[in-house]
Amino acid sequence: MGYKVAVVGATGNVGREMLNILAERQFPVDEIVALASRRSLGTEVSFGDMTLKTKDLDTFDFTGWDIALFAIGSEPTKTYAPKAAKAGCVVIDNSSLYRYDADIPLVVPEVNPEAVEGYAKRNIIANPNCSTAQMVVALKPLHDRARIKRVVVNTYQSVSGAGKDGMDELWDQTKSIYNPVDDKPAKKFTKQIAFNVIPHIDVFMEDGSTKEEWKMVVETKKIVDKDIKLTATCVRVPVFVGHAEAINIEFEEHLDEDEARDILREAPGVMVVDKREDGGYITPVECVGDFATYISRIRQDSTIDNGLNLWCVSDNLRKGAALNAVQIAELLGNKVLKKG
Ligand SMILES: NC(=O)c1ccc[n+]([C@@H]2O[C@H](COP(=O)([O-])OP(=O)(O)OC[C@H]3O[C@@H](n4cnc5c(N)ncnc54)[C@H](OP(=O)(O)O)[C@@H]3O)[C@@H](O)[C@H]2O)c1
Repeated sequence: MGYKVAVVGATGNVGREMLNILAERQFPVDEIVALASRRSLGTEVSFGDMTLKTKDLDTFDFTGWDIALFAIGSEPTKTYAPKAAKAGCVVIDNSSLYRYDADIPLVVPEVNPEAVEGYAKRNIIANPNCSTAQMVVALKPLHDRARIKRVVVNTYQSVSGAGKDGMDELWDQTKSIYNPVDDKPAKKFTKQIAFNVIPHIDVFMEDGSTKEEWKMVVETKKIVDKDIKLTATCVRVPVFVGHAEAINIEFEEHLDEDEARDILREAPGVMVVDKREDGGYITPVECVGDFATYISRIRQDSTIDNGLNLWCVSDNLRKGAALNAVQIAELLGNKVLKKG
């Protein structure tokens, strides 16, 4: 006996990947339903060899459904996630709505799998921000060995992190640069994204940082260790899929770059590609469609005591969202629901 699974936001970037990953990992599904807004009623989406017709979330009854993977943004989640949770269906949510609630677990299965057990208070589990998810997979095994004091991270985030409208804007604007009569001014992003980079993701906070940067700080503390200090600069770049991060880490104890490389080679969810030669590192286009978080350019930072630098790349629609959500569902299945 398997699970009855609802994919909510099935027509979006993350929702489509959730369906792909459920099929790829052969999640034990007895019944599956694709849900989105009324606009998408009847839209066909793929699930393995099957084609599903999207249903209207607004009129859907979650009674009798085991797990709902949500990827619809915070506003509609406010309405529909509590409805699903109340009907007895466990919600695994990709929006930022519940991430910071003390009674809702925020889970990256390679890092804090035990937290999943806390789901029962609200029947909801939160998935972290895409840039946090890939980073903590790399930080955790290093923290276990040498205790991280401080992290300085600069992100290079793809437009798919801003949903399907973000991808369309990069595509249309790139074409319009060569055909100036077809002007495509910035709409989804705050400035031209084609052939440009934008140091601004999500809204500004009072202290001058952005909410995306704040999320990385708060989520790292909740998932890995509340004592880790972190400062981030999050930048949108004209890449369709795959986020990259340049990470500088200061440890309590000395950690040699060779030992760090060995630790990361053994770490769950991590692939080390680190040759000091042309092309001996991973870039975003190479990680698309993969499950792994790739680590390259591991090297000592000799400007501080106990410092390391590394380069971290992952498919933001996968580890940053859909894969992590499916891994949470697997964990929940194995530890708690025990079907399949
Ligand atoms: N992209 C990433 O890398 C990433 C990473 C982590 C978390 N997330 C989060 O995941 C969520 C989805 O992101 P995305 O990139 O997949 O966005 P997207 O491509 O814009 O897709 C949005 C999905 O939500 C549905 N939706 C929107 N409003 C709805 C409503 N009122 N009722 C029902 N369905 C509604 C859309 O359905 P229609 O097609 O019918 O409009 C669509 O299926 C967001 O909360 C985002 O912050 C994204």
